[in-house]
Amino acid sequence: MSIKFIEERNLFVIQTNNTEYAFQIVHGRFPVHLYYGAKEGAEYEDYKSWVVSFAPYYREHHLSYVPDTAMLEYSGYDSGDYRASSLKIRNKNGDCATFVDYRSYRIFSGRLELPGLPYADADDKTETLELTLWDKLTKAEVKLYYTVFPEEDVISRYVAITNCSEDKMVIEKCMSLTLDLPTHDYDMISLHGRHYMERMYQRVPLHHGLQSIFSRRGASSHQHNPFFALCSHDANEEEGNVYGFNFVYSGSFADEVEVCQIGRTRIQVGLGEENFSWHLEGGETFISPEAVMTFTDHGIGQMSRNFHKFVRDHILPPEPFEKRPVVLNTWEACYFKIDEKEMLRFADTAAECGTDMLVMDDGWFGQRESDWLALGDWYESKEKFPNGLKAFIDKVKERGIKFGIWVEPEMISKASDLHDAHPDWCLHCKDRERMESRQQLVLDMGNPEVVQYLKDIFSKTFDGCAIDYFKWDMNRNISQAGSAILPPERQGEVYYRYMLGVYELYRWFKEKFPNAMIENCAGGGGRYDLGMMKYSTMIWTSDNTVPHHRIKIQYSSMLAYPAATMSCHVANHQNSCEDPRQLKYGWEIAMGGALGYELHLPNASNTVRETVKRQIEDYRKYESLILRGDYYSLLNPFETNYSAYYYTDGKDFLLSFLQCDVDTENEIILPIAKADPSAQYLETTTGKTYSGAELIAGISAFSSNSNCNSQIWHFVLLN
Ligand code: GLA
Repeated sequence: MSIKFIEERNLFVIQTNNTEYAFQIVHGRFPVHLYYGAKEGAEYEDYKSWVVSFAPYYREHHLSYVPDTAMLEYSGYDSGDYRASSLKIRNKNGDCATFVDYRSYRIFSGRLELPGLPYADADDKTETLELTLWDKLTKAEVKLYYTVFPEEDVISRYVAITNCSEDKMVIEKCMSLTLDLPTHDYDMISLHGRHYMERMYQRVPLHHGLQSIFSRRGASSHQHNPFFALCSHDANEEEGNVYGFNFVYSGSFADEVEVCQIGRTRIQVGLGEENFSWHLEGGETFISPEAVMTFTDHGIGQMSRNFHKFVRDHILPPEPFEKRPVVLNTWEACYFKIDEKEMLRFADTAAECGTDMLVMDDGWFGQRESDWLALGDWYESKEKFPNGLKAFIDKVKERGIKFGIWVEPEMISKASDLHDAHPDWCLHCKDRERMESRQQLVLDMGNPEVVQYLKDIFSKTFDGCAIDYFKWDMNRNISQAGSAILPPERQGEVYYRYMLGVYELYRWFKEKFPNAMIENCAGGGGRYDLGMMKYSTMIWTSDNTVPHHRIKIQYSSMLAYPAATMSCHVANHQNSCEDPRQLKYGWEIAMGGALGYELHLPNASNTVRETVKRQIEDYRKYESLILRGDYYSLLNPFETNYSAYYYTDGKDFLLSFLQCDVDTENEIILPIAKADPSAQYLETTTGKTYSGAELIAGISAFSSNSNCNSQIWHFVLLN
């Protein structure tokens, strides 16, 4: 049993393999947090109030319970706790005072579904605690869910709010996870960025006040990834306490970290309040998205491995992911200039070079000659594909490779048949000028008619087509989030309804094309999140394919997400990578994740094509280590000029050394601590043999004055 209720102390204890989480019901009413940390040696006392002047209290309990300083499991609004609130409900009287008391609990194995939302899959060890809270005035019932994934040391949290009255109420803020920690002796690690430079690592000490990362863009965003971690100041890859957090959601969000007057830290993950409100009629229930957290006292690397395993085993679609297709994608080679003849040239070369799949990117549909046109017109261009899509795809298949196609379902171009027919299907604010981005508008995915149109048109166009893979793109953020189908008082719901519509369409794609996988993309990694990962086999990591930039983007992505999610192409815009050093460097970087190519291979020299073929053959030898193995980072490219890491299945090792920028010549030792000291290993690229003790002591890498210096070593256990 992972979850226990200890009646004598009114104490709930949640355990994973290595962690423990505890809270207590104080005065039979207030769920007060006591502990989250290592299971071994876990000790915590019962709640004692911390009295500060000016703090409101209940006369009945006087100063024996002080909400403003207590560590709370979930905090109401305007309820004597002045820190960032978990829940704010406007009631029929017009005030937002939100007071919920403990009522009951239930513990069960497995988990509940979150209708309409992505959530982590349970396994036979998963258990859930449902804690019911209740506001006796408004009759709002608030259920907190704690779902435990013991093997991965992960606990998830979400909330369900039911209006048990006959009166309307409006939820103005609803966070999925609140966690109060007793100190603020932590650094915060988060991933900021922008288009073309997603997920840049940042580590800063916490300070008094609120520090927050968020998206108000309707997508989890290039600017702030929902993942963040708090770690002790001395934490490194192997040592130190680390708490990691993430959100299984792809729209606007807020991660809040607040250091309060007495130096405690409140952590929250949820929808935030800027892009969200929800009307709840009598009898209705609102369910928040799920947030996840992990703890380890074995450093940042272990936090990453906890999340990697969790994502692989509980989030990603259950396709076998020892393997990802090595694709040849047409975007950087062709942009919009594609037609059947050119694509068949690509298919020939894709087959010749040993790739698994041709992915035909943007430009195949409607009048799509540029990014000014045709989004929404999801039927093939008759000029480009005179024999139809099906006949073309059949010809690709005759070459013995698979076929993938690009779509951007959520968008509409002003110059499109769809816009002519339905000018109000895009998000817009009544009577206001409509703002475009990349010459496009965003469809109102909260409108069921829009979603139905997309299902119908994709069904028709792809009828009979043997499509193995969709690249699902989303190339702008939302602005003027108004919906023509919602009344004025419900306009605050648009961002959330948008995501529910998107998720519904994702689920429809998965059902309609059960054998196809989805690569998610939002102008690169603008929705690199657990919500998208629930439906997408992998995510296009960034539009930035410049190798030395990719080193940093991939390093930071790996803090929270496994390599199996990272779609990485050897690409060089319209160049064909004729420089062998560049081709090797790009490949050694791209093989940190799911390898693919985005080069004009039909125009490339035979030497390039042969090199690519060899690279793919070699990648096949390593790919199960990369996609399924445990990841150990040795050098942080934000703190040094290098990234170095290895993947291991406990037996073999794939070690990479990647230099970011030109350097002086130095020897850099890369220790493989996980090697078996008494074993022998064969390094397969050189045929040399090494003892485990040598690997533990470290492999020598050499920096250089080259702008593309990298090396890999593949150690196979011999005995
Ligand atoms: C986005 C994607 C690219 C490509 C283009 C097509 O920018 O990130 O990979 O698909 O759209 O328009």
